[in-house]
Amino acid sequence: MTTATGNPTQNPDYALDGPAREFLAGPHRLLIGAERPEALDGRTFATLDPASGQEIAQVAHAGPEDVERAVAAARAAFEGPWAALPASARGRLIGDLADAVDAHAEELAQIESLDNGKPVKLAQYVDVLGTAGHLRYFAGWPTKIEGNVLPVTAPNMLCYTRREPVGVCAQIVPWNFPLLMAAWKIAPALAAGCTIVLKPAEQTPLSALRLGELALEVGFPPGVLNVLTGDGATGAALVDHPDVDKIAFTGSTAVGREIGAKAGHALKRMTLELGGKSPNVILPDADIEAAIKGSYQAIYFNSGQACNAGSRLFVPADRYDEVIGALAERAAATRLGPGLDTATQLGPLISAEQRERVMGYIDSGRAEGAELVVGPHPPAVLADSGGYFVAPTLFSVTSDDLRIAREEIFGPVLVASPYDTLEEVAKRANDTDYGLAAGVWTKDLSSAHRLAGMLRAGSVYINNWGGADPAAPFGGFKASGLGREHGHDGLDAYLETKTVWTAL
Ligand code: NAI
Ligand code: MG
Repeated sequence: MTTATGNPTQNPDYALDGPAREFLAGPHRLLIGAERPEALDGRTFATLDPASGQEIAQVAHAGPEDVERAVAAARAAFEGPWAALPASARGRLIGDLADAVDAHAEELAQIESLDNGKPVKLAQYVDVLGTAGHLRYFAGWPTKIEGNVLPVTAPNMLCYTRREPVGVCAQIVPWNFPLLMAAWKIAPALAAGCTIVLKPAEQTPLSALRLGELALEVGFPPGVLNVLTGDGATGAALVDHPDVDKIAFTGSTAVGREIGAKAGHALKRMTLELGGKSPNVILPDADIEAAIKGSYQAIYFNSGQACNAGSRLFVPADRYDEVIGALAERAAATRLGPGLDTATQLGPLISAEQRERVMGYIDSGRAEGAELVVGPHPPAVLADSGGYFVAPTLFSVTSDDLRIAREEIFGPVLVASPYDTLEEVAKRANDTDYGLAAGVWTKDLSSAHRLAGMLRAGSVYINNWGGADPAAPFGGFKASGLGREHGHDGLDAYLETKTVWTAL
């Protein structure tokens, strides 16, 4: 299958099973409390299949009045049934939602693959399994959230701390891992005892709605998890709402700065997970085969649409031609296609806009004199599909100042460059506004950990790329964000500390 025409859900070539087809048939309304209303002003928007550009479905477009209702529902649940539930019951519900995600794994993976374009196997093994994993990890936390009794100096004083939920959380997520990013945010918030208004990206609104339905089905009190589909204006109305206590955002650095300024002014709690331009360093003694394979995955995974993509590759000058040649060969052999075709290795980009942005960077790289080694044009059959395909692209550069070497591209575009010494490469790797991730390939323990210490990034991957676990903190230095998700740190972002003084 290479081309699709008409409504993708009716295309017989698409491997959509009954449950996914049934959900996709709609309607796709908002989820507020226990209700499934249309937007108050009746607006809807289309979500598209990135492999064909065809409309999948119309989805409710939440406006300011809907934001008002959803925040009110979240507040009522926060002060009512959710607060009254014992920690053990909260944990059990989160675990039940993990089980429901597992039970609907194929359906969720198919919905995600169609709406986002990613290979369905990737959706299943990374997005859906990861979602269940995060929920399951945080299901264990509610019963372990403890305060301390403090040895204060004042006599006859009992002083202790309580860890209390922050309150109503606005959680705004992007389109690259729609369900998984939602899980990263809802799981710790639920564990802490917060309530949520979740806003998925306008390009991929469907899986969050299904997740919200499953939460109601397993018995979460209405209002604990509300889902508002809509665009940036919906997100902004949510950020601006005075009764929102905390904002959690993943997306572009530009919008992150805007949200950060607003949250700073209103003194709302916030966590921001933003862009990156992550350096990936191969040292001279590395297992070259493993480094090439890992560096290919680091950038081309999810069509390069990953915040922690390894988008800058540094290779020792005397191994440069060998590494670049092998990467180019792999890139050229990559099979592009629609995500629901199980033979597909690399799906389309998310949207026409994203493809234009990525192609704009590729043009600028050429204009600024970078050597284009492979890419970006997809095979002719896909060029006519209406889909947003860009083939794996590799540039070789000798300057770190080109736009393609400095700005986040968020597409399958790798910028490689030779280097001579460890000190030189550490300096160049850190010469960026961002600091989300960095990678090192070496067999030498000392160089590995020396470099891990020198790299200014929230995650350092040694002889792997993209290691991830619900227990392991993830987030950025510098312009890559604020705060951490996952693990203790991720939970802390949803808790306030209260100190109680009792004169005895
Ligand atoms: P974006 O930051 O505009 O969108 C992300 C989410 O924020 C979406 O849910 C969107 O509706 C919402 N949003 C947009 N404007 C908002 C506002 N003013 N207030 C509140 N919420 C708002 O990102 P976009 O335009 O989809 O992608 C642009 C670039 O951002 C990409 O090319 C990539 O470089 C970067 N990006 C980074 C991601 C990451 O994982 N760190 C994810 C997605 C995009
Ligand atoms: Mg879509």
